Amino acid sequence: MDITDRPRRLRTDGVRGLVSETDVRAEDLIAPIFVDATIDDRLEIETMPGHERVPIDESVARTREVLDTGVGAVMLFGIPNSKDARGSRAWAEDGVVQRAVRRITAETDAYVLTDICLCEYTDHGHCGVIEENAATDPTVTVKNDPTLELIERIAVSHADAGAEMVAPSGMMDGMVGAIRGALDAAGHRNVSIMSYGAKYNSGFYGPFRHAADGAPAFGDRRHYQMDPANAREAVREVRLDVEQGADVLMVKPALAYLDIVAALRGAFDHPVAAYNVSGEYAMVRAAADRGWLSLEEVAYESLLSIKRAGADLILTYFAEDIADRL
Ligand code: PBG
Repeated sequence: MDITDRPRRLRTDGVRGLVSETDVRAEDLIAPIFVDATIDDRLEIETMPGHERVPIDESVARTREVLDTGVGAVMLFGIPNSKDARGSRAWAEDGVVQRAVRRITAETDAYVLTDICLCEYTDHGHCGVIEENAATDPTVTVKNDPTLELIERIAVSHADAGAEMVAPSGMMDGMVGAIRGALDAAGHRNVSIMSYGAKYNSGFYGPFRHAADGAPAFGDRRHYQMDPANAREAVREVRLDVEQGADVLMVKPALAYLDIVAALRGAFDHPVAAYNVSGEYAMVRAAADRGWLSLEEVAYESLLSIKRAGADLILTYFAEDIADRL
């Protein structure tokens, strides 16, 4: 045999670590947590076994569980005590996220990010102010500019409560610029913005909509979230966010969109984040619960692939499982 190049030489146990190109560290991960103003006890999320909604009183304890695994950052989602057409509980000073953020920042060292959206707060479940006939006419949808005003209020209220980074996920045009302007005007120049810039209209959000009670009562989000068929459009979308002052650029979902992660990595110098979403967690978890695959192995491999594609940070429901193992 005349084989000169033998890649297997570098796969022995002694050298594998030296030549490994990518790793996943606890510091790369952000753990999403769900705080629910309507409950007094923790509630298991049916569509995401292993995850719970916690009452506001438990938000600090929940954050400490994350910190104990070595993960330093949490992303907060809120389930409000009431909903209305404009989602007014989303910017209330005594809103669920605002109260939880105040406690978490006062009592822990966690780095706190908040999701900024209206879908958990509106009675129709859309991510903004809807057009009058939206329920009956599927071609009309969320009004962009009136929604921006509400998003600005939410961002400022989260920053007032102590959030260090806000993450607008509603896919409204101009949302990053609107938030940057509002934060600066309110004296929050050092609060960062992680834009869900390339957020696709995805079936992988199914379990989350149950977890956060934010499913649209009618229609879908295809008029504001991106079409999964489009890749070049993602670069264009994200460029707009960069021009408006985004600090971190996010792709969502992650695994079915690794080409987009790689494209953004190549096109911009900003940190790139990927959101390994609820459906990606639920699939692995469901198979693992049946004994069909190893959750830890597949979760780690998934996160590794997201890093390899070019992401610097990952939002993932596996954060605690994986950090514990590392
Ligand atoms: C709010 C929001 C959603 C997710 C994060 N923020 C749901 C959606 O857009 O329908 C999904 C997260 C997940 O699936 O884990 N707009």
